[in-house]
Amino acid sequence: MNKSEKFETNFLVDGQKVLEVLQQAYTNPEQYKVLTTNTQLNHRSLHPENLPQQGCEVSQVLEEAIQMIFSGYCNVSHPQYYGYISPKPLPVSIIGDLLASGLNQTPGAWRAGPAATAIEAETLSWLGQFIGYESNLEKVPNGIFTSGGAMANATALKLARDVVLGREWQAEGIFGIKHKPIVYLSVEGHFSIGKALDFLGFGRNCLRLIPVDETGRIALEALQVQIQKDIKHGYKPFCLIGTAGTSATGAVDSLDALARIATDYDMWFHVDAAAGGVFANLPETSKYFQGINLANSVTIDPCKWLFVPFGMGCLLTKQGSELVQSFQDGSHYWQELAELDLFQMGLPGTRQWRSLGLWMAFKHLGSDGYRQLLKNALQVALHLAESVLRFDCLELLQAPTLPVCCFRIKNYPGNLPLNEINKFIQKAITETGSHYPTLLDWRGKTYLRVSINNFSTNFDHVDSLIETVYSELFRLGKAA
Ligand SMILES: Cc1ncc(COP(=O)(O)O)c(C=O)c1O
Repeated sequence: MNKSEKFETNFLVDGQKVLEVLQQAYTNPEQYKVLTTNTQLNHRSLHPENLPQQGCEVSQVLEEAIQMIFSGYCNVSHPQYYGYISPKPLPVSIIGDLLASGLNQTPGAWRAGPAATAIEAETLSWLGQFIGYESNLEKVPNGIFTSGGAMANATALKLARDVVLGREWQAEGIFGIKHKPIVYLSVEGHFSIGKALDFLGFGRNCLRLIPVDETGRIALEALQVQIQKDIKHGYKPFCLIGTAGTSATGAVDSLDALARIATDYDMWFHVDAAAGGVFANLPETSKYFQGINLANSVTIDPCKWLFVPFGMGCLLTKQGSELVQSFQDGSHYWQELAELDLFQMGLPGTRQWRSLGLWMAFKHLGSDGYRQLLKNALQVALHLAESVLRFDCLELLQAPTLPVCCFRIKNYPGNLPLNEINKFIQKAITETGSHYPTLLDWRGKTYLRVSINNFSTNFDHVDSLIETVYSELFRLGKAA
């Protein structure tokens, strides 16, 4: 083998092997447990192996990688994996990712990917249409793709800062501060907001976490009282964040009421719809999202319920030009070249081209096909909730608004505290390898949280979850 051949690979052989692994993971997902953990991997992550000095064949490396992945594998393809909001990606989106990465196009700059830029801009427009969020489409796109929801939220906060507090912030930063700026979010809002405020130099104490009602929605009265208090102290309320789909239970704040409050106090209104936004325009759920169109900006995470691989978030805005004003670097003048350099609309320069997978998925399914997948996931969650209500020993937290259903064992003849029973059952079920609900601590009570992340999950799968809860409870009772 000559030197340059060593760096070549045969896509048709090594690539074929990868495709076979994916095909197996998709057609026979139950061959692996829902979660495989391994203490050796934990040790290795803390004590990495030495850097290899000599190379070896791609086929050999591939074997090792596959072996290692499946020894510590979170099986999102399994229809009974209910963890977090981690989807089984649509095969078409994986194919799109492979093509985009393989040809190494970037939508960051026109000259590094003209087609990538055009597809990125088109996908942003489709996403806005899909959720029913209208933007002023001027010379620039209606937002920017990010690496995830947290980066989209951070980008929104910078945008809010620049627009509401004044563009001098871009030059002076915290040295130009006149009044302490304040941001409002519910206690159920996402932790990425606090981190972003810290990251942007505002500090976490600028964040007011407002209590929620019994369904997990921000308490409007408490919010108004807090705003008044802050104004009295001479602070400057500048951004109000509504959560449309809390990570815990899928609760959606009253967005139209929040929009009115934001207008009354001259605040930027951002909606963190990372989890739930794609349900905003679905006939079954649109009633919860009234007012989303009034937001100045919206975070959406296509790598959740749009079933594309991780690493894809999005910030949609009413005015894309405001993003340009916030992120444009003075030394580049894309307007004069009449070419769209998307690095002028966000923090990253070069970045992975994720939107091809989503663009292909939109083309393949159409918005109707996508809506059908969302509706199925919702119906499975509602079916589970109905089943829970039929059992005396189970308690439903609340009727699902999104495809998340939380329930707990509410009575058990033994002496153990109920929270411990629920934790024990969740662990026992996960150890069977066939179901993976997570735990939720809600007002001191422990629940099993079931998120329907997989477009293949059906009624039988969640019926089987209830049966497994029962059989584990029975075993626990016998052992007691
Ligand atoms: C409501 C909400 N906002 C923001 C995020 C952060 O998104 P990411 O993990 O993609 O950065 C999440 C993640 O679950 C979320 O549920």
